[in-house]
Amino acid sequence: MRQHKLALCKEHYLVWVPEQTERFIKKYDMFSHDERVLVAVSGGKDSLSLWDILVRLGYQADGLYIGLGIDGGIGYSSESQRLSQEFADAHSQTLHVVDVEKEYGQPIPVLAERTHRGFGKPCAVCGLTKRHVMNRIARDLGYDVLATGHNLDDEAAVLFGNTLVWEGSYLLRQGPVLPESPGLARKVKPLCRFYEREMTAYAIARGIEYIYEECPFAEGSTSIYYKEILNQLETARPGAKLTFYLRFLEARRNGLFREDEKAIRNLHPCPNCEQPTSAPGLCSFCRMIEKVDQSEILGE
Ligand code: AMP
Ligand code: FES
Ligand code: ZN
Repeated sequence: MRQHKLALCKEHYLVWVPEQTERFIKKYDMFSHDERVLVAVSGGKDSLSLWDILVRLGYQADGLYIGLGIDGGIGYSSESQRLSQEFADAHSQTLHVVDVEKEYGQPIPVLAERTHRGFGKPCAVCGLTKRHVMNRIARDLGYDVLATGHNLDDEAAVLFGNTLVWEGSYLLRQGPVLPESPGLARKVKPLCRFYEREMTAYAIARGIEYIYEECPFAEGSTSIYYKEILNQLETARPGAKLTFYLRFLEARRNGLFREDEKAIRNLHPCPNCEQPTSAPGLCSFCRMIEKVDQSEILGE
């Protein structure tokens, strides 16, 4: 893991991941051991790994699978449901299943077609439906919190997209925890600081069977394009993706860029050159020159 300057064997990796997850759950105040967690599982590596980690950490975590009715020639939905159910059975966990077609009359692709939303792609209708169902089940079945498997690559890509157009209201809401509000359950993303590769490694090392295929409608999506761009950046500068996300959280915690404004207002003239500086006493330039002069005197 170049981004952490860390290399672990399988045995220690399988300890490190849950330890880190526990640390993030506490750091961001996501939930406690007394609370009931509903994990939204898609049958993919992230959400199944998340469920696995929470169960290993001793949390009360049930699963929710939403049958979207997407086939794409690979039986995408039925296969991901099968894998989710297999995981639940193998670990003696409860999986709630909501079938969109059974409950709302039509599968996602038909709902999308009939409503003419999303320019021939069902992703917008799908996202809307998933958010609605997750929230409904969390509320109706009395869960305290809803957890999704979003990883760092997902979060960084969303952040990148929102930043490109300075989408203020979304930027203010994006984060590891979205607090409960009237009619909406608290939402958490315990894996938001793990690279996608790290979750793949975890799922494989744990022998979790997950669906390798992406949703057939994801091809050519903007989010995949942003992920590719961020991966190029990451290759050239390991850790860039994590820094991008973490520094955003930090900036937002400080009231977005208000702290920087305060710093600008707190400038004072340097006693030597009179150019503005935020450093106490001499400005950075004058301090640098002072240092050079001193080392010359000392004959270094
Ligand atoms: P995605 O929107 O496919 O990137 O998935 C993000 C997260 O949403 C996953 O990690 C899951 O936690 C959740 N999720 C996605 N699809 C489903 C589904 N069909 N049923 C339940 N949860 C899902
Ligand atoms: Fe919803 Fe692909 S359109 S998962
Ligand atoms: Zn100066």
